[in-house]
Amino acid sequence: MRIACIGAGVIGGGWAAYFLARGVDVVAWDPAPDAADRLRRTVDAAWPALTELGLDEGADRARLRVVDSLAEACADAVFVQESAPEDLGLKRGLLAELVAATRDDAVIASSTSGFPMGEMATAAGDPSRLVVGHPFNPPYLIPLVEVAGGPGTDPLVAKRAADFYRSIGKSVIELDRELPGFVANRLQEALWREALHMVAQGEASVEQIDAAITEGPGLRWPVHGPCLTFHLAGGEGGMAHMLDHFGPSLRAPWTRLEAPELTDDLRDAMVEGTAGEAGARSFADLVAERDRAVIAIRRAVAQARASSPGAR
Ligand SMILES: NC(=O)c1ccc[n+]([C@@H]2O[C@H](COP(=O)([O-])OP(=O)(O)OC[C@H]3O[C@@H](n4cnc5c(N)ncnc54)[C@H](O)[C@@H]3O)[C@@H](O)[C@H]2O)c1
Repeated sequence: MRIACIGAGVIGGGWAAYFLARGVDVVAWDPAPDAADRLRRTVDAAWPALTELGLDEGADRARLRVVDSLAEACADAVFVQESAPEDLGLKRGLLAELVAATRDDAVIASSTSGFPMGEMATAAGDPSRLVVGHPFNPPYLIPLVEVAGGPGTDPLVAKRAADFYRSIGKSVIELDRELPGFVANRLQEALWREALHMVAQGEASVEQIDAAITEGPGLRWPVHGPCLTFHLAGGEGGMAHMLDHFGPSLRAPWTRLEAPELTDDLRDAMVEGTAGEAGARSFADLVAERDRAVIAIRRAVAQARASSPGAR
């Protein structure tokens, strides 16, 4: 099986590493002159985590081929994962090119963080094979992929994409409608906007915001998500008591849903704050630290779930 990775930055590189670990051939194309070296570094950095989680038969970094043209990458690919920059005009042109360059049974999935396929497919002659396959960083470690077609997508293609991702070990949410930002980024952005507001207003530092999540609610989310978490917050009365009790505070003006203006001062505060938090840890140190921790968390949650009496 041959998979084409179009665009090989943070996400395309992460996808390439994941596909290689599943024992398939990966052909990558990216127009940047340094893309091949960057891609190999990304794959090398991901390999210890992938090895720790278990490589499939045939998994081999040597099965990665970086080619010089989009056409060469697409020839004979049965699945294309597009991970080019989040720019609507670029995506429109690129997806149209991919439709023209691929065989007519190939599925073309876009990693877009939030553009609905209906908006990205406008230049494609035949949009039926175009679908969103939205991963989370790093795609080699975070299981979730959100799959959503546009109005012109053949529903069977969306189903094939979802089945394919599941067959290689991903957790898939299939959306039956176009929703800007899909599910997870809508939730994530609400939190992120409020974090930026708090920094812009001097209400909390970058470090305090990160600690508020990693030392607080962030520890519960990998286990139960925000809804089941609040079900437990209602005590034995569960979600019903929780809503009756805390419902009125939903109207309290705690959060601002409009995005703040991204001023130079706010940008600098975020950049300096995160650099301060990272301290002496390099980018590679932080990636390795995150990967070790995510593996441990995934294992711990799986073990805890498996030993619950009602385990499914
Ligand atoms: N970074 C994240 O956390 C994240 C998470 C999920 C989804 N995404 C989505 O993944 C996609 C890629 O994001 P990224 O973070 O990897 O960006 P990135 O900047 O790291 O990588 C983009 C790559 O695309 C290449 N590129 C430029 N023009 C191209 C073209 N015309 N055709 C093909 N490749 C081209 C660039 O050289 C670069 O290597 C975006 O759609 C983004 O929204 C990002």
